[in-house]
Amino acid sequence: MTGFDMARILITSALPYINGIKHLGNLVGSQLPADAYARFMRQTGNEVMFICATDEHGTPAELAAAKTGEAVADYCARLHGVQAELAKGFRLSFDHYGRSSSARNHRMTQHLAGRLAENGLISEVSEKQVYSHADGRFLPDRYIEGTCPNCGYTRARGDQCEECTKQLDPTDLIEPRSAISGSTDLEVRETKHLYLRQSALKDRIDQWIDSQQGWPILTTSIAKKWLHDGDGLQDRGITRDLDWGVPVRKGDQPWPGMEGKVFYVWFDAPIEYISATAEWADANGLDDAAWERWWRTDKGADDVRYVQFMGKDNVPFHTLSFPATIMGSGEPWKLVDYIKSFNYLNYDGGQFSTSQGRGVFMDQALDILPSDYWRWWLLSHVPENSDSEFTWENFQASVNKDLADVLGNFASRVTKFCRSKFGEVVPEGGAYGPAEQAVMAEIATRLAAYETHMAEIEIRKATAELRAIWVAGNEYLQSAAPWAVFKEDPERAAAIVRFALNLIRLYAILSRPFIPDAADAMALAMNVADESWPHDLDDALTALPGGHGFSVPENLFDKITDEARDEMAARFAGKA
Ligand code: 2FM
Ligand code: ZN
Repeated sequence: MTGFDMARILITSALPYINGIKHLGNLVGSQLPADAYARFMRQTGNEVMFICATDEHGTPAELAAAKTGEAVADYCARLHGVQAELAKGFRLSFDHYGRSSSARNHRMTQHLAGRLAENGLISEVSEKQVYSHADGRFLPDRYIEGTCPNCGYTRARGDQCEECTKQLDPTDLIEPRSAISGSTDLEVRETKHLYLRQSALKDRIDQWIDSQQGWPILTTSIAKKWLHDGDGLQDRGITRDLDWGVPVRKGDQPWPGMEGKVFYVWFDAPIEYISATAEWADANGLDDAAWERWWRTDKGADDVRYVQFMGKDNVPFHTLSFPATIMGSGEPWKLVDYIKSFNYLNYDGGQFSTSQGRGVFMDQALDILPSDYWRWWLLSHVPENSDSEFTWENFQASVNKDLADVLGNFASRVTKFCRSKFGEVVPEGGAYGPAEQAVMAEIATRLAAYETHMAEIEIRKATAELRAIWVAGNEYLQSAAPWAVFKEDPERAAAIVRFALNLIRLYAILSRPFIPDAADAMALAMNVADESWPHDLDDALTALPGGHGFSVPENLFDKITDEARDEMAARFAGKA
């Protein structure tokens, strides 16, 4: 599919946990590439709905609130505000940034659970849970830590091992301890919980995954592993003994025997993709039909293309559990069409670590440099095919070379030269010749590749083509050398400068998915009224005619000095 099919595209990014400010590894693992894709799809004329939200339930939220001493609801409201501001700072262009604790999500989660129960897909299981005497409570999920039975990682959590991604139950852990008190005075007690009968849906899910075309290997291999390894797809507990969360109800009815329990965070979080779209409609004063046309195949969503973005640890929930939830409801919900999953970004020879303050977090990043610098580095190094690594040398080289030397320098040289020789108007006279035709031919080829890569969500390859398009302009300017031609042949110099000014306008449009602030600055300086995506380069590169006024942009990018680089490296190295 190319961007010119005028499709309707629903895009969701994995929902960041509410518990604190996310690091750059989190950002590049879903929200940022989703944003570049959403921006590209909007710019190329598609109707886009781009949804994200904070993931507010479960033990991470409770544990974080316990640390700050706030009531968990207050903590979540505050952190939602913080995360929403940071998202704005990084220019993430969500149509709605919702909250999984919203009333909409409570109702939708209870509704879907009720439907699953009616369809015989929920079982009530009396099971053994770990109870902590020291803490006086059950210890679900992250309230308990221990050694992973699968890989031996010693800090595995009760719900999943971060190291090998295996989904776990708290009773699976070896040498378990309370994450609250560290106590090992634990006892296994009986409690009743609801299970989603994923095993009953195994064949349907398997067939559905087999019918998908061209999903990334990372996505399908993880899904297939969960479907077929060991005893195959297991039923999954979807309730917890916690206070904070969506209370267990069967639609709008009480659920006898489940009083005081809530749904498991991973049950309600993906449902928030739907609920957040409803929140968007509410926030814009629209009726239910406005969001249902994105989600209900009986109400117009059958022609929607739904693309999800996420880190690899989220894949099992999105290929198995969430599809099981909405398929099992028996209602015509839109299933995902394409799952783009990512590997991990490491930080300077190790991992990002929240507890050790290692690596750069979103607030710190924006404090030290503008968002475009981070967006460009992150998107041009997005961990698509393997894990990738942030180093300060590499970051400095990308910013200084790609952004400052190539793009920034081009815009500044052209506009300043023009101002000094012709004034702040696009010069008239002369005509484009073979040199301009050659650049246009190269850009046409690269632009087609860029569009294909974006349509296929090969973000790194797309950034390489965009960079090459900037380089083509720079090299053209260097060899056409209007400053040398000007004396002998001012008409030729005028044509060169006119072409180069038109290139700046083109760069503003093509660069917007990746560096929206620089795109704004270039568009403003070039006084661009029409930002439509170029379908024909002959037209695009004559869009600014002779006589069109422009201004010299502020310096688009500052270089990072070696000294500044070393200071930042030392500052973010974390506690020894
Ligand atoms: O891994 C995470 O950060 C989860 N909060 C992602 C949730 S995605 C969705 F399903 F809600
Ligand atoms: Zn493990």
